[in-house]
Amino acid sequence: MGRLRTAVSILLFGTAAACMASPPRAPSEQMSLPASLPNPLVFANGSPVKTRSEWQERRKELLHTFTEQMYGRMPGRPAHMRFEVFDRDPHALGGTATREQVEILFDGRKGGRQMDLLVYIPNHVQHPPVILGLNFWGNETINSDPGIRISERWIESGRNPFVNLSCVSNHRATAACRGINAGRWPVQMILNAGYALATAYRGDLDPDHMGGYAESIRSAYPQLEQGNDNFSTIAAWAWGLSRALDYLETDRKVDAHRVVAFGWSRLGKAAIWAAATDPRFAALISNESGAGGAKLFHHPGGESILHLNTAFPYWFCRTFRQYNGRDTSLPFDQNEVLALVAPRPVYIASAMDDHNSDPRGEFLNAVAVSAVYRFFGVSGLPTAQWPPVNQPILGRVSYHVRSGGHSVTDFDWQQYLRFCNRYVKAKPHFVPIRAKH
Ligand code: GCU
Repeated sequence: MGRLRTAVSILLFGTAAACMASPPRAPSEQMSLPASLPNPLVFANGSPVKTRSEWQERRKELLHTFTEQMYGRMPGRPAHMRFEVFDRDPHALGGTATREQVEILFDGRKGGRQMDLLVYIPNHVQHPPVILGLNFWGNETINSDPGIRISERWIESGRNPFVNLSCVSNHRATAACRGINAGRWPVQMILNAGYALATAYRGDLDPDHMGGYAESIRSAYPQLEQGNDNFSTIAAWAWGLSRALDYLETDRKVDAHRVVAFGWSRLGKAAIWAAATDPRFAALISNESGAGGAKLFHHPGGESILHLNTAFPYWFCRTFRQYNGRDTSLPFDQNEVLALVAPRPVYIASAMDDHNSDPRGEFLNAVAVSAVYRFFGVSGLPTAQWPPVNQPILGRVSYHVRSGGHSVTDFDWQQYLRFCNRYVKAKPHFVPIRAKH
């Protein structure tokens, strides 16, 4: 009966119940790169990648592998997509920012498949870089600004360790939801630092529950449901980030060459796949993305592939299920996904008590992927030593582990803004890359 109840709660509630459904494996103290870790700089046939043009071939091979084995196929830019700006307030947030809200009409039709993008642009900066990330519970939750349109989509409810969702009624947001997640989105801090912030609700793309297919953008592409490399939820979120970037490219108030993909947790997994597949993203910030994100599967500890595929069977494509129980012998790993982002700047962040995300496994990926940065003639993470808690390591590959649990805090944001100041804002988006040979 207990088991039945657990299964039912996994079916019903995405976030809260699923993370309690089966505890993560005990954290592993192992602090060296796993010997079995696949090398992104070696082709599947065993020959090493020696030149930049060979890397382009290897890049295609990796994209193919990860599409087929893990994230599934995703569509391109929809032919009829258009943007409708339905709000532009140059005096938002006490006059410090311009607020824009845009309907991204995927099939060109109002009332069809669409996503609401909320953009805040600091008024004191011309063409600022943009930090773009999906949010968990609706645009109206990230700030109490009464001008933000309240989402009409399905929203999870019930017990949730991360946010108080008592404002949700019949799976719909109410005005009481305004600002409930503002603590994780320090909008004013981001704007003051000279960045625009763009965000959309994950549920506009995929509602993130077992019965959510019909409401998901995935169901607009039934041909991608054929086969086991089906369009997955993580891929749908990543795809949505690229569509938001399509809009930002048309917005002359911001610098679309300097858009940073950001995400926390499952939305960090999506940000990683977005930056890996879409080279237009200038940089990546992964906040506790864990298993299927920045964590190395070959590092024991934290959430397992079996747990991912059991609690959230729609997050990855069906092929990925064949790897249940094979974490440490997987023929590919997440250092190879991050390799697809190199040599663009990347920040990986962990939290000490977030055992599920396996902080050490995330750190070791920062170490592992740095080899690819060196291949490009730039340095990655400046050290291979696990840093003390709350002591960030800033580099083209940056890392910190802060105290506390699974969340996004002001401390995290302060580091991300320092990183962006150094690697995104101060420099042009273009990175001078020296070929190794
Ligand atoms: C669960 C899940 C993680 C995920 C997290 C989140 O804990 O197991 O993989 O990252 O939810 O998105 O908050």
